[in-house]
Amino acid sequence: MQRCSCRHPALWLVGWLVAGCATGEPADLTPAALEAKARRGDDRDDRDDRDHHHPQSRRPPIGSLADAAARTDRLVGTAVDAPFLNSDPVYAATLASEFSYLTPGNETKWGSLQPVDPAHWEFAPADAILSFAHRRHLAAKGHVLIWHSQLPPFINDGVTRDDLVALVRRNIHEVMRRYRHETRAWDVVNEAVADDGTLRDTVFLRTLGPTYIADAFRWAREEDRQAVLYYNDFNIDTVNAKSNAVYELVRGLVDAHVPIDGVGFQMHLEAQTAPSTEEMVANLTRFTDLGLRVNISELDVRIANAVGDLATRLAIQRQVFHRAVAACVQVAGCESVTTWGFTDLDSWIDATFGPDDPLELDEQYRRKPAYYGMIDGFMAVPVDPPGTPPNLIANGSFEIGSDGWAASGGRLSTSRRTAHTGERSARVTDRTEASHGAVYDARSVASRNTSYDVSAWVRISGAASDRVTLTATTRCIGGADTVTALATATATDAAWLPLGGELTTPDCIADDIALGLSGPAAGVVLHVDDVALRRHEQLGPELVANPGFEIDTAGWFGFGGAALSSTAAQAHSGARSGVATARTATFQGPGLDLLAAGAALGGTYRASAWLRIAGTSLSPVAMTLKSTCDGQATFQRIAITTASDAGWTRLTGSIALPSCAATELVAYFEGPPAGTDIYLDDVSLRQDLSVRSPNLIANADFESGSTSGWFGFGSPALTATTAQAHGGRWSLLATNRSATFMGPGSDILAVASPGVYQASAWVRLDGAAAGPVFMTAKITCAGAADQFVRIGAASATDSGWTLLTGSLSVPSCPRSGLIVYFEGPPAGVNEYIDDVELRR
Ligand code: XIL
Repeated sequence: MQRCSCRHPALWLVGWLVAGCATGEPADLTPAALEAKARRGDDRDDRDDRDHHHPQSRRPPIGSLADAAARTDRLVGTAVDAPFLNSDPVYAATLASEFSYLTPGNETKWGSLQPVDPAHWEFAPADAILSFAHRRHLAAKGHVLIWHSQLPPFINDGVTRDDLVALVRRNIHEVMRRYRHETRAWDVVNEAVADDGTLRDTVFLRTLGPTYIADAFRWAREEDRQAVLYYNDFNIDTVNAKSNAVYELVRGLVDAHVPIDGVGFQMHLEAQTAPSTEEMVANLTRFTDLGLRVNISELDVRIANAVGDLATRLAIQRQVFHRAVAACVQVAGCESVTTWGFTDLDSWIDATFGPDDPLELDEQYRRKPAYYGMIDGFMAVPVDPPGTPPNLIANGSFEIGSDGWAASGGRLSTSRRTAHTGERSARVTDRTEASHGAVYDARSVASRNTSYDVSAWVRISGAASDRVTLTATTRCIGGADTVTALATATATDAAWLPLGGELTTPDCIADDIALGLSGPAAGVVLHVDDVALRRHEQLGPELVANPGFEIDTAGWFGFGGAALSSTAAQAHSGARSGVATARTATFQGPGLDLLAAGAALGGTYRASAWLRIAGTSLSPVAMTLKSTCDGQATFQRIAITTASDAGWTRLTGSIALPSCAATELVAYFEGPPAGTDIYLDDVSLRQDLSVRSPNLIANADFESGSTSGWFGFGSPALTATTAQAHGGRWSLLATNRSATFMGPGSDILAVASPGVYQASAWVRLDGAAAGPVFMTAKITCAGAADQFVRIGAASATDSGWTLLTGSLSVPSCPRSGLIVYFEGPPAGVNEYIDDVELRR
């Protein structure tokens, strides 16, 4: 095969431009290619728009991941699966149009090349992938020469040392020689280190001893003097025991002049525990400081366990892809980002971790929010600070065009004349009315009855200054449009101006939720950039009663046997912090009893804490939730960060508490090696009230003006009334109560599921100065006697409203009846109730 020199990104680009290895294949006219072509219509505007003083705008605007990566002289790659490549033309076309780099997902592994016996090689699938790369001018990396997994059946502990050396050398020789023209790099050794930092127990370690790693690099170098030789591993994406061990391993190789060129960081990430850009940069940089290159080699981001609805989880995934690419771009020696596959149609995650959607294109090869996150990473659009609710608008930065946007009049295009971040922004020209502007359809990302922060940057040309308005248009099915001005400001032609406001969506099924930017006089050009729609968090009260350890450790304990004390030795704020000492295991640390603190089961909580360690310079510290339901303990990661002995680090995360009737619910901090002290300060846990589940109670605020959904338990009379109201104008009044147990009831059998619900209601009396009110559940498990369960109690009065709170645990028996009702005042006393809630 002819050598297509793809050894260095810059050389590769040159090779691409002179088409030195072109075969003259016609461009595919697959749906993806057509779609990409249609998208590029947008770019024609940019051409007349180029600012010839800016070298970058002499290049065409970016139309693919590969274009974006090339802006930073990096490669962007993907793992390739031979069966898809051979059978799905859209897969092949998308691969060729979006990427500049590929790695065979399985086909160059030893076990794929020699699946039967040492005498036979099966090169055809690998040949097909690497000749595809060659024909389509994609650089390629071989993967992998030495790995304990996916080995031929004849590589086992029965093989003698000499035979194993010979077999390994022959594999390296055959495979590297065969593909030396197509592969610019090789993963020489994969996953040789275990999570605890020791060398992984593999057939190679057992038979050849620890020197097999250095030997493999030497043998590989003998075979190919130019290939970039990588060590590759997972769970080393941040500073931790394993990445420390890999660091020591490769430092030893460098010191011994072993021909290793770089380290690959797999980055199989889980959205809610993915490291920050800063953490990744700090970790990657210590490797490049050794004179090595680095690459992100197998990026994917699992979202199945992330908190929130699908739109939110996809937006969180976008944040993580953005962060990881940004980290590579910020590290000079990071030469590529490869995702492990590119369509959710085909990912190893589903088979290994369970069903998920971990990649940047969906099953129909459409661009997911994660795709735009990658684009933003390459285009240096700033990443969200940790803990920021994600932007639900996938394409708010317009770096790759105006996908998802439309004009309400005039013409929408993108431009590189001006940009708030990156190199491109949206603009609306040919505006013939002030109402003409840019519009985003947010129906698929915004939920009903939810508050959002909306923001955008605007600028105008064709007038020195004019008003720009950020609007929201909503319409309930069958209803009329409601147009709300969220923010208005005077934009200028001299600088970008931020606009921001709050949107609360109507509590209905909406057939329109649109965001718009408009306002300047006809003829003025409107520029828009960096538009964001983020859930407005409504945080409940602080759950942590003693967040700063200023006096003592009240409410805290040493989880797993650590000693816990309040100390003046360190403090993030105030004079003291908490410190866990005498830690004899990594899981020991400061713990907090969340049941005792009054946490709402089923609630979603935002966590934040400041951490510092002593005894180790850098170490991961995780915040973990332990919950015990039905005698079964479960551990969930709330958040993880890299703590240091040189200063305080903030940890942020979110956790959905289990909704089972938990008997134990503890949050604790763990991770550093035994013997390391953990300092903790300014801990916060607040419920995110905007993600609570729907209210089980129908007509809960009586603003319908009717008693619909309610019945009299016993035989009281019910009326909706405006005589009193806690919120709004209406409440519910129960009269003719001839026994204490009588009162208003609601049947929740059809809507409740097993688990714990939080209850609240406002109550008031008429006919007695004071008296008790109880909220009670009548639960009927099929075939068993009725159970009456107290949900909550309050001392009500006739002079004002009183809040009643409590919780209801719905059993998992087959239920034939489930009613909640209000009772308690003496017979003859009337009861008002209002704003009743029963939610997780
Ligand atoms: C995976 C492949 O994607 C799967 O198709 C196969 O069944 C198992 O291996 N780390 C690696 C990759 O280095 O080689 C693995 O690839 C994923 C984890």
